[in-house]
Amino acid sequence: MKLLVTGGAGYVGSVVAKQLVLAGHEVTVFDDLSKGHRRAVPEGARFVRGTLLDGEAVRRLLREGYEGVLHFAALSLVGESVERPELYYRNNVLGTLNLLDAMVESGTDRSAKRLVFSSTAAVYGEPEVVPIPESAPTEPTNPYGASKLACDRMIGDVARAHGLAATSLRYFNVAGASGELGEDHDPETHLIPLVLAAALGKRDAISIFGTDYSTPDGTAVRDYIHIEDLGRAHALALDAAEAGEHRVYNLGNGSGFSVREVIEAARAVTGRKIEAVEAPRRAGDPPELVASSERIRDELGWKPEKPLLEDMISDAWNWMLSRPDGY
Ligand code: UFG
Repeated sequence: MKLLVTGGAGYVGSVVAKQLVLAGHEVTVFDDLSKGHRRAVPEGARFVRGTLLDGEAVRRLLREGYEGVLHFAALSLVGESVERPELYYRNNVLGTLNLLDAMVESGTDRSAKRLVFSSTAAVYGEPEVVPIPESAPTEPTNPYGASKLACDRMIGDVARAHGLAATSLRYFNVAGASGELGEDHDPETHLIPLVLAAALGKRDAISIFGTDYSTPDGTAVRDYIHIEDLGRAHALALDAAEAGEHRVYNLGNGSGFSVREVIEAARAVTGRKIEAVEAPRRAGDPPELVASSERIRDELGWKPEKPLLEDMISDAWNWMLSRPDGY
Protein backbone atom coordinates (compact mmCIF):
# COMPACT_ATOMS: atom_id res chain seq x y z
CA MET A 1 0.00 0.00 0.00
CA LYS A 2 1.01 3.61 -0.49
CA LEU A 3 1.03 4.95 3.09
CA LEU A 4 1.57 8.30 4.78
CA VAL A 5 3.06 8.36 8.29
CA THR A 6 2.75 11.70 10.06
CA GLY A 7 5.23 12.07 12.91
CA GLY A 8 7.29 9.26 11.43
CA ALA A 9 10.54 10.74 12.76
CA GLY A 10 9.38 10.33 16.36
CA TYR A 11 9.81 7.42 18.76
CA VAL A 12 6.64 5.47 17.93
CA GLY A 13 6.13 6.75 14.38
CA SER A 14 9.65 5.82 13.25
CA VAL A 15 9.32 2.23 14.50
CA VAL A 16 5.95 1.82 12.80
CA ALA A 17 7.33 3.38 9.59
CA LYS A 18 10.20 0.89 9.65
CA GLN A 19 7.86 -2.07 10.18
CA LEU A 20 5.71 -0.89 7.28
CA VAL A 21 8.72 -0.49 4.97
CA LEU A 22 9.90 -3.99 5.92
CA ALA A 23 6.41 -5.34 5.17
CA GLY A 24 6.78 -3.99 1.63
CA HIS A 25 4.66 -0.85 1.80
CA GLU A 26 5.56 2.39 0.05
CA VAL A 27 5.99 4.80 2.96
CA THR A 28 6.19 8.59 3.08
CA VAL A 29 7.09 10.17 6.42
CA PHE A 30 5.76 13.67 7.08
CA ASP A 31 7.32 15.37 10.11
CA ASP A 32 8.24 18.91 11.11
CA LEU A 33 11.25 17.63 13.13
CA SER A 34 10.21 19.77 16.11
CA LYS A 35 10.47 16.65 18.28
CA GLY A 36 11.50 13.94 15.87
CA HIS A 37 14.90 13.17 14.41
CA ARG A 38 15.82 13.01 10.73
CA ARG A 39 18.07 10.04 11.50
CA ALA A 40 15.10 8.11 12.89
CA VAL A 41 13.34 8.11 9.51
CA PRO A 42 13.90 4.56 8.33
CA GLU A 43 15.83 3.72 5.23
CA GLY A 44 13.45 3.02 2.38
CA ALA A 45 10.94 5.66 3.46
CA ARG A 46 10.57 8.96 1.65
CA PHE A 47 10.85 12.00 3.91
CA VAL A 48 8.86 15.20 3.56
CA ARG A 49 9.45 17.93 6.09
CA GLY A 50 6.35 19.90 6.97
CA THR A 51 3.72 20.70 9.52
CA LEU A 52 0.08 19.64 9.75
CA LEU A 53 -0.71 23.22 10.73
CA ASP A 54 -0.14 24.20 7.10
CA GLY A 55 -3.49 23.08 5.71
CA GLU A 56 -2.57 23.80 2.09
CA ALA A 57 0.65 21.78 2.31
CA VAL A 58 -1.28 18.86 3.81
CA ARG A 59 -3.91 18.98 1.05
CA ARG A 60 -1.16 19.06 -1.58
CA LEU A 61 0.49 16.05 0.01
CA LEU A 62 -2.73 14.04 0.23
CA ARG A 63 -3.45 14.70 -3.44
CA GLU A 64 -0.53 12.36 -4.14
CA GLY A 65 -3.08 9.63 -3.43
CA TYR A 66 -2.38 7.56 -0.30
CA GLU A 67 -4.29 4.41 0.49
CA GLY A 68 -3.83 4.84 4.19
CA VAL A 69 -2.59 7.35 6.77
CA LEU A 70 -1.00 6.60 10.13
CA HIS A 71 -1.14 9.71 12.26
CA PHE A 72 1.42 10.13 15.06
CA ALA A 73 2.40 13.80 14.80
CA ALA A 74 1.45 15.44 18.10
CA LEU A 75 2.76 17.09 21.23
CA SER A 76 2.64 14.72 24.19
CA LEU A 77 3.99 16.25 27.39
CA VAL A 78 1.34 16.26 30.10
CA GLY A 79 3.05 18.93 32.23
CA GLU A 80 3.62 21.26 29.29
CA SER A 81 0.00 20.83 28.24
CA VAL A 82 -1.16 22.12 31.62
CA GLU A 83 1.02 25.20 31.27
CA ARG A 84 0.32 25.85 27.59
CA PRO A 85 -3.03 24.24 26.72
CA GLU A 86 -3.52 26.42 23.63
CA LEU A 87 -0.36 24.92 22.13
CA TYR A 88 -1.80 21.43 22.57
CA TYR A 89 -5.22 22.22 21.14
CA ARG A 90 -3.73 24.02 18.16
CA ASN A 91 -1.09 21.48 17.39
CA ASN A 92 -2.99 18.27 18.12
CA VAL A 93 -6.59 19.18 17.32
CA LEU A 94 -6.06 21.62 14.47
CA GLY A 95 -3.32 19.43 13.00
CA THR A 96 -5.67 16.45 13.00
CA LEU A 97 -8.51 18.52 11.54
CA ASN A 98 -6.30 19.67 8.67
CA LEU A 99 -5.33 16.07 8.02
CA LEU A 100 -8.96 14.91 8.05
CA ASP A 101 -9.97 17.75 5.70
CA ALA A 102 -7.27 16.75 3.27
CA MET A 103 -8.17 13.05 3.52
CA VAL A 104 -11.84 13.76 2.84
CA GLU A 105 -10.99 15.99 -0.09
CA SER A 106 -8.54 13.61 -1.72
CA GLY A 107 -10.53 10.52 -0.77
CA THR A 108 -13.40 11.40 -3.04
CA ASP A 109 -11.50 10.76 -6.22
CA ARG A 110 -8.66 8.46 -5.29
CA SER A 111 -8.03 6.87 -1.92
CA ALA A 112 -6.73 8.05 1.49
CA LYS A 113 -9.68 6.38 3.13
CA ARG A 114 -7.97 4.47 5.91
CA LEU A 115 -6.67 6.09 9.08
CA VAL A 116 -4.90 4.81 12.19
CA PHE A 117 -4.62 7.36 14.99
CA SER A 118 -2.18 7.40 17.88
CA SER A 119 -4.39 8.00 20.92
CA THR A 120 -3.61 7.58 24.60
CA ALA A 121 -4.65 6.14 27.95
CA ALA A 122 -4.64 9.75 29.13
CA VAL A 123 -8.18 10.08 27.71
CA TYR A 124 -9.43 7.99 30.67
CA GLY A 125 -8.09 10.34 33.35
CA GLU A 126 -8.30 8.60 36.72
CA PRO A 127 -10.23 5.44 35.91
CA GLU A 128 -12.42 3.75 38.50
CA VAL A 129 -12.10 0.30 37.00
CA VAL A 130 -8.70 -1.32 36.36
CA PRO A 131 -7.86 -3.02 33.95
CA ILE A 132 -9.43 -0.27 31.86
CA PRO A 133 -11.85 -1.34 29.12
CA GLU A 134 -12.58 0.87 26.10
CA SER A 135 -16.05 1.46 27.54
CA ALA A 136 -14.59 3.29 30.57
CA PRO A 137 -15.69 6.92 30.90
CA THR A 138 -13.38 9.36 29.13
CA GLU A 139 -12.58 12.14 31.58
CA PRO A 140 -9.07 13.38 30.87
CA THR A 141 -7.38 15.24 33.70
CA ASN A 142 -5.02 17.32 31.55
CA PRO A 143 -5.15 19.25 28.24
CA TYR A 144 -2.93 16.68 26.51
CA GLY A 145 -5.49 13.92 27.17
CA ALA A 146 -8.33 16.30 26.34
CA SER A 147 -6.75 17.23 23.00
CA LYS A 148 -6.34 13.55 22.07
CA LEU A 149 -9.93 12.81 23.09
CA ALA A 150 -11.12 15.72 20.93
CA CYS A 151 -9.25 14.12 18.02
CA ASP A 152 -10.77 10.70 18.72
CA ARG A 153 -14.25 12.22 18.62
CA MET A 154 -13.55 14.29 15.53
CA ILE A 155 -12.20 11.23 13.73
CA GLY A 156 -15.33 9.24 14.65
CA ASP A 157 -17.65 11.95 13.37
CA VAL A 158 -15.72 12.50 10.13
CA ALA A 159 -15.41 8.75 9.53
CA ARG A 160 -19.18 8.31 9.80
CA ALA A 161 -19.97 11.37 7.69
CA HIS A 162 -17.47 10.75 4.90
CA GLY A 163 -16.86 7.02 4.84
CA LEU A 164 -13.36 6.92 6.30
CA ALA A 165 -12.28 3.63 7.87
CA ALA A 166 -10.60 4.77 11.09
CA THR A 167 -9.05 3.16 14.15
CA SER A 168 -7.73 4.85 17.29
CA LEU A 169 -5.15 2.98 19.33
CA ARG A 170 -5.00 4.13 22.94
CA TYR A 171 -1.45 3.50 24.07
CA PHE A 172 -0.46 2.79 27.62
CA ASN A 173 3.24 3.14 28.53
CA VAL A 174 5.42 2.49 25.51
CA ALA A 175 8.96 1.29 26.22
CA GLY A 176 12.00 -0.38 24.69
CA ALA A 177 13.75 0.07 21.37
CA SER A 178 13.77 -1.55 17.97
CA GLY A 179 17.21 -2.12 16.51
CA GLU A 180 18.68 1.25 15.63
CA LEU A 181 15.50 3.10 16.65
CA GLY A 182 14.94 4.20 20.23
CA GLU A 183 13.61 6.80 22.61
CA ASP A 184 15.24 10.25 22.52
CA HIS A 185 12.98 12.97 23.88
CA ASP A 186 13.97 16.50 24.82
CA PRO A 187 13.10 17.04 27.57
CA GLU A 188 12.89 13.42 28.68
CA THR A 189 10.12 12.85 31.20
CA HIS A 190 9.52 9.10 30.93
CA LEU A 191 10.48 6.75 33.69
CA ILE A 192 12.47 4.06 31.89
CA PRO A 193 14.85 6.30 29.89
CA LEU A 194 15.42 8.41 33.01
CA VAL A 195 16.20 5.35 35.13
CA LEU A 196 18.61 4.16 32.46
CA ALA A 197 20.23 7.59 32.27
CA ALA A 198 20.91 7.20 35.99
CA ALA A 199 22.37 3.74 35.34
CA LEU A 200 24.62 5.27 32.68
CA GLY A 201 25.81 7.94 35.10
CA LYS A 202 24.20 10.77 33.13
CA ARG A 203 22.03 11.58 36.16
CA ASP A 204 22.82 11.30 39.83
CA ALA A 205 19.57 9.56 40.75
CA ILE A 206 16.03 8.79 39.74
CA SER A 207 13.23 10.51 41.65
CA ILE A 208 10.28 8.36 42.66
CA PHE A 209 7.28 10.65 42.22
CA GLY A 210 4.93 9.65 45.02
CA THR A 211 5.29 6.85 47.55
CA ASP A 212 1.87 7.19 49.20
CA TYR A 213 -0.41 5.91 46.44
CA SER A 214 -2.96 3.22 47.26
CA THR A 215 -0.90 0.59 45.44
CA PRO A 216 0.94 -2.42 46.90
CA ASP A 217 4.26 -0.59 47.38
CA GLY A 218 2.90 2.94 47.43
CA THR A 219 4.32 3.94 44.04
CA ALA A 220 2.35 4.44 40.82
CA VAL A 221 1.58 1.43 38.63
CA ARG A 222 1.73 1.47 34.83
CA ASP A 223 1.20 -0.98 31.99
CA TYR A 224 4.39 -1.08 29.91
CA ILE A 225 4.25 -2.29 26.32
CA HIS A 226 7.19 -3.01 24.04
CA ILE A 227 7.49 -0.57 21.14
CA GLU A 228 7.69 -3.42 18.63
CA ASP A 229 4.49 -5.04 19.95
CA LEU A 230 2.79 -1.68 19.89
CA GLY A 231 4.04 -1.09 16.36
CA ARG A 232 2.68 -4.38 15.06
CA ALA A 233 -0.82 -3.43 16.16
CA HIS A 234 -0.82 -0.58 13.62
CA ALA A 235 -0.60 -2.80 10.56
CA LEU A 236 -3.51 -4.85 11.93
CA ALA A 237 -5.47 -1.69 12.71
CA LEU A 238 -5.01 -0.38 9.18
CA ASP A 239 -7.25 -3.12 7.80
CA ALA A 240 -9.62 -3.32 10.74
CA ALA A 241 -12.43 -0.84 10.24
CA GLU A 242 -15.10 -0.79 7.55
CA ALA A 243 -15.77 2.43 5.61
CA GLY A 244 -17.73 4.79 7.83
CA GLU A 245 -16.61 3.05 11.00
CA HIS A 246 -14.36 4.27 13.83
CA ARG A 247 -12.89 1.62 16.10
CA VAL A 248 -11.12 2.18 19.39
CA TYR A 249 -8.64 -0.24 20.95
CA ASN A 250 -6.61 -0.03 24.14
CA LEU A 251 -3.06 -1.15 23.67
CA GLY A 252 -1.17 -2.47 26.68
CA ASN A 253 -0.07 -5.80 28.13
CA GLY A 254 -2.73 -5.98 30.80
CA SER A 255 -0.32 -6.15 33.72
CA GLY A 256 1.09 -3.37 35.84
CA PHE A 257 4.49 -2.57 37.33
CA SER A 258 5.18 -0.03 40.04
CA VAL A 259 7.87 2.63 39.82
CA ARG A 260 9.91 0.70 42.40
CA GLU A 261 9.56 -2.51 40.38
CA VAL A 262 10.77 -0.72 37.24
CA ILE A 263 13.83 0.61 39.06
CA GLU A 264 14.56 -2.83 40.53
CA ALA A 265 14.24 -4.45 37.09
CA ALA A 266 16.59 -1.83 35.62
CA ARG A 267 19.17 -2.60 38.32
CA ALA A 268 18.96 -6.30 37.46
CA VAL A 269 19.17 -5.76 33.68
CA THR A 270 22.02 -3.23 33.72
CA GLY A 271 23.96 -4.57 36.69
CA ARG A 272 24.54 -0.92 37.60
CA LYS A 273 23.87 0.89 40.81
CA ILE A 274 20.87 3.16 40.41
CA GLU A 275 20.25 5.65 43.17
CA ALA A 276 16.56 6.34 43.84
CA VAL A 277 15.22 9.20 45.93
CA GLU A 278 11.66 9.62 47.14
CA ALA A 279 9.91 12.74 45.91
CA PRO A 280 6.41 14.20 46.03
CA ARG A 281 3.73 13.06 43.59
CA ARG A 282 3.87 14.57 40.10
CA ALA A 283 0.75 16.62 39.44
CA GLY A 284 -1.91 14.82 37.44
CA ASP A 285 -0.46 11.30 37.73
CA PRO A 286 -3.14 8.64 38.29
CA PRO A 287 -2.20 5.88 40.79
CA GLU A 288 -2.75 2.99 38.40
CA LEU A 289 -3.17 2.68 34.63
CA VAL A 290 -3.46 -0.85 33.30
CA ALA A 291 -5.16 -1.74 30.03
CA SER A 292 -7.70 -4.34 29.32
CA SER A 293 -6.42 -5.37 25.91
CA GLU A 294 -9.04 -8.05 25.40
CA ARG A 295 -10.76 -6.23 22.57
CA ILE A 296 -7.71 -5.95 20.32
CA ARG A 297 -6.71 -9.53 21.13
CA ASP A 298 -10.18 -10.86 20.29
CA GLU A 299 -10.97 -8.73 17.27
CA LEU A 300 -7.57 -8.27 15.61
CA GLY A 301 -5.72 -11.28 16.96
CA TRP A 302 -2.98 -9.02 18.35
CA LYS A 303 -0.80 -10.42 21.06
CA PRO A 304 2.45 -9.22 22.58
CA GLU A 305 5.64 -11.07 21.70
CA LYS A 306 7.78 -9.19 24.22
CA PRO A 307 5.59 -8.83 27.31
CA LEU A 308 8.45 -9.01 29.81
CA LEU A 309 9.47 -5.75 31.43
CA GLU A 310 13.08 -7.00 31.49
CA ASP A 311 13.08 -7.32 27.69
CA MET A 312 11.79 -3.77 27.25
CA ILE A 313 14.39 -2.39 29.64
CA SER A 314 17.13 -4.48 28.10
CA ASP A 315 16.32 -3.28 24.56
CA ALA A 316 16.14 0.34 25.76
CA TRP A 317 19.47 -0.13 27.60
CA ASN A 318 21.26 -1.58 24.59
CA TRP A 319 20.00 1.29 22.46
CA MET A 320 21.19 3.79 25.03
CA LEU A 321 24.61 2.12 25.24
CA SER A 322 24.94 2.31 21.46
CA ARG A 323 23.84 5.96 21.40
CA PRO A 324 24.60 7.51 24.77
CA ASP A 325 23.92 10.97 23.36
CA GLY A 326 20.76 9.95 21.50
CA TYR A 327 20.34 10.59 17.81
N1 UFG B 1 8.01 8.68 37.31
C1 UFG B 1 8.86 8.80 38.39
N2 UFG B 1 10.03 9.46 38.21
C2 UFG B 1 10.40 10.02 37.04
C3 UFG B 1 9.53 9.88 35.92
C4 UFG B 1 8.35 9.21 36.10
O1 UFG B 1 8.55 8.33 39.49
O2 UFG B 1 11.47 10.63 36.97
C5 UFG B 1 6.75 7.96 37.47
C6 UFG B 1 5.56 8.79 37.10
O3 UFG B 1 5.17 9.60 38.18
C7 UFG B 1 4.55 7.72 36.72
C8 UFG B 1 5.43 6.60 36.16
O4 UFG B 1 6.73 6.87 36.62
O5 UFG B 1 3.89 7.26 37.86
C9 UFG B 1 5.45 6.56 34.65
O6 UFG B 1 5.75 7.87 34.20
P1 UFG B 1 6.02 8.21 32.65
O7 UFG B 1 6.29 9.67 32.60
O8 UFG B 1 7.05 7.28 32.12
O9 UFG B 1 4.67 7.85 31.95
P2 UFG B 1 3.17 8.38 32.27
O10 UFG B 1 2.43 7.19 32.78
O11 UFG B 1 3.16 9.59 33.07
O12 UFG B 1 2.76 8.83 30.82
C10 UFG B 1 2.27 7.97 29.85
C11 UFG B 1 2.49 8.59 28.48
C12 UFG B 1 1.70 9.87 28.36
C13 UFG B 1 0.27 9.61 28.71
C14 UFG B 1 0.16 8.94 30.04
C15 UFG B 1 -1.26 8.56 30.37
O13 UFG B 1 3.84 8.86 28.28
O14 UFG B 1 1.78 10.34 27.05
O15 UFG B 1 0.92 7.76 30.07
O16 UFG B 1 -1.54 8.98 31.65
F1 UFG B 1 -0.40 10.78 28.76
